[in-house]
Amino acid sequence: MSDKIAYARHGDVAVLTVKNPPVNALSQAVRQGLWDGMDRAEADAGVRAVVIVGEGRAFFAGADITEFGKPLVEPNLPALINRIEASPLIVVASMHGVSLGGGLEVALGCHYRIAVPSARVGLPEVHLGLIPGAGGTQRLPRLTGVEAGLDVMTTGRHVGASEAHDLGIIDVLQDGDPAENGLAYAQKLLDESAPRRAVSEMDPPAPVDWDAAFEATLARSKGQISPAWCVRAVQASVEKPFAEGLKAERQIFFDLMQTDQREGMIHAFFSERAVGNLPELKGVAAREFDHIGVIGGGTMGAGIATAALLSGLRVTLLEMSAEAGEAARSRIAANLAGSLKRGKISPAQHDQILGETLSVVTGYDALAGADLVIEAVFEDMDVKKVVFAELDRVCKPGAILASNTSYLDIDAIAATTSRPGDVLGLHFFSPAHVMKLLEVVVGALTAPDVAATGFALGKRLGKVSVRAGVCDGFIGNRILSTYRIAADHMILDGASPYEIDAALEAFGFAMGPFAVADLAGLDIGYAVRKRKRMEGLDPRARDAAYADKLCEDGHFGQKTGKGYYDYAAGSKARVPNPDVMPLIEAERAAQGLKPRAFGSEEIVRRYMAAMVNEAAKVVGEGIARRPLDVDMTLLFGYGFPRYRGGPLKWADMVGLDALLADIKGYAEEDPYFWEPAPLLKDLVATGRTFDDLNKEG
Ligand code: 3HC
Ligand code: NAI
Repeated sequence: MSDKIAYARHGDVAVLTVKNPPVNALSQAVRQGLWDGMDRAEADAGVRAVVIVGEGRAFFAGADITEFGKPLVEPNLPALINRIEASPLIVVASMHGVSLGGGLEVALGCHYRIAVPSARVGLPEVHLGLIPGAGGTQRLPRLTGVEAGLDVMTTGRHVGASEAHDLGIIDVLQDGDPAENGLAYAQKLLDESAPRRAVSEMDPPAPVDWDAAFEATLARSKGQISPAWCVRAVQASVEKPFAEGLKAERQIFFDLMQTDQREGMIHAFFSERAVGNLPELKGVAAREFDHIGVIGGGTMGAGIATAALLSGLRVTLLEMSAEAGEAARSRIAANLAGSLKRGKISPAQHDQILGETLSVVTGYDALAGADLVIEAVFEDMDVKKVVFAELDRVCKPGAILASNTSYLDIDAIAATTSRPGDVLGLHFFSPAHVMKLLEVVVGALTAPDVAATGFALGKRLGKVSVRAGVCDGFIGNRILSTYRIAADHMILDGASPYEIDAALEAFGFAMGPFAVADLAGLDIGYAVRKRKRMEGLDPRARDAAYADKLCEDGHFGQKTGKGYYDYAAGSKARVPNPDVMPLIEAERAAQGLKPRAFGSEEIVRRYMAAMVNEAAKVVGEGIARRPLDVDMTLLFGYGFPRYRGGPLKWADMVGLDALLADIKGYAEEDPYFWEPAPLLKDLVATGRTFDDLNKEG
């Protein structure tokens, strides 16, 4: 028998203990071991019941995702589950930690289910671009009914043990050791002569309006298709005999397995975990931190302070005046009120944070004991230099000094201090207590343990942290600036901001670039354009100044009620601002440009080509260490659709040679903007993909 399963006999009960750390994924060896364990129990004279239990953190985290996309190896999971369910012995699942995907499906194939109260169950396959593929869509609705079953599988959410008990998924909740619980429960079932109870033999649930449910799920899923296909699989559970339903489920599962969406989502799953694992930081210990200083309590400072406070860190926030300090405190209080409302903190925690853990000051001396200070003052190098000189004066030796700057040179900031090794960028995204991305910007002189502390802080705050090098805009904003320019060029040439937003939202972005600009504030882009013009634009660069007029007239987007859109009817009602197109037309006329029509396919192609080309430069220059670092930056900070994996995974899937050919075609009109990235040319020439670079590490 496989060493992944331990077999033990306790009277007339056999216990199969799964040992596949860290989370008992159902790999081939585990499946084979369970199969053999069932054979052995059935052949073991006197055994009348079997308990399946996981060792370590979980019952089972599901199928082994690393096996996906590879040839199937027997025994397959549905066959194993059918084999468990068909056993003449009573089979009990004793669950703790998580039972997810195939893990819950194994439990549903057992005849009875007991769980500790902290257990969680779920069918998260939709997050991998799949549907449950080992009977979950057929068995779960027989226990919960269609509506609750579809809710569990189309959201992929983790369901707590108590709710799962109420839904009929778990029979008994019992505190204590899972193996002992399972054994006692099996013994009790035998003592009571409880019947063997197969879910597949239960009546199917009542039907619903399947087409309506399919369409509604599709509409909710923003371009992702697998949630809607759960509906069709559940429909089969109601309309077909069990074995036929299982076949229908398996067919959908396999069809989805072949899709780019599945490949993109699995890339995202593993990249999300790999992104914080940097070879260069292996074995480097982070510095201790408990007391965080924040300089500036505007949009970002207040959000950063909120994130730190919600993670249990002590925060001292410094503002320019008592009045500004009060405004900052109110912003933080409003953020915390939201967390209280959503049940993330208790009323007692809320009061303690505002009463004790947060202090708002106007003098630097209060930062003398801070372990790590994050500056979030105005985006102005001169202001930042003054702040860092003060921090250098008061902060204790070993304190880490960080800037949340969006674009400015971290090395130049570090050079103004006597301790450049302690300086780094910690670039949060707005709203900082909500958005998951943190760029850890490592300067030329940043000490390795300072970079490691940036990652440790990100982990503490629940962020996805990405290492970035120093350049104008780091990873995310540098790439954003480029694809925004591509969008502006399309506008000069004939597309409207509304066509561009619509095309990209249909591609899967949460919001198009012009709606995003309105949300972030048009003043940000305006300031960048002014700075770049002051630094001197390359004479070959096309310039688009039509948006400056909006800012000069005081329209900065949502915060002033008008930008590309008019928000008079609320932030969700995006009505095109009628002043915008005349500004664009005037600029086209001034530049002597004849507008032409753009289809949504061309819009997406140009926008994505610009994004990928700049991303390839960012990787080629070492600003991002690996393509997956770019992918995660765009996914967690810029609304890139998760089911496409990230821009570089998308590029691999559409084909790098075709993309390079497009870029070369565009370069015939504008060779300056469309200069192909050397890395992209190199990959095409050597027949490699971005993902190959990820694997090289
Ligand atoms: N297969 C293979 N590896 C897995 C895995 C799985 N199902 N689940 C987790 N892992 C790996 C992770 O990649 C990670 O590896 P690393 O240490 O090398 O980076 C390690 O296990 C620990 O995982 P986490 O860092 O994510 O640990 P957490 O404690 O934060 O989370 C978890 C644990 C909740 C189980 C989370 O890992 C998770 O959500 N896993 C995926 C669960 C899932 O999607 N299951 C369904 C699979 S599809 C399926 O079952 C198809 C079936 O219907 C046929
Ligand atoms: P903001 O204008 O909302 O807030 C800046 C705050 O800093 C103000 O409250 C101001 O009173 C305070 N301040 C200014 N000078 C100060 C000083 N010398 N001492 C103490 N406090 C001072 O600006 P926002 O949007 O919060 O941006 C702050 C920084 O974060 C900038 O560098 C910006 O580029 C960066 N950033 C902004 C993002 C955004 O989406 N707004 C996203 C990521 C980074």
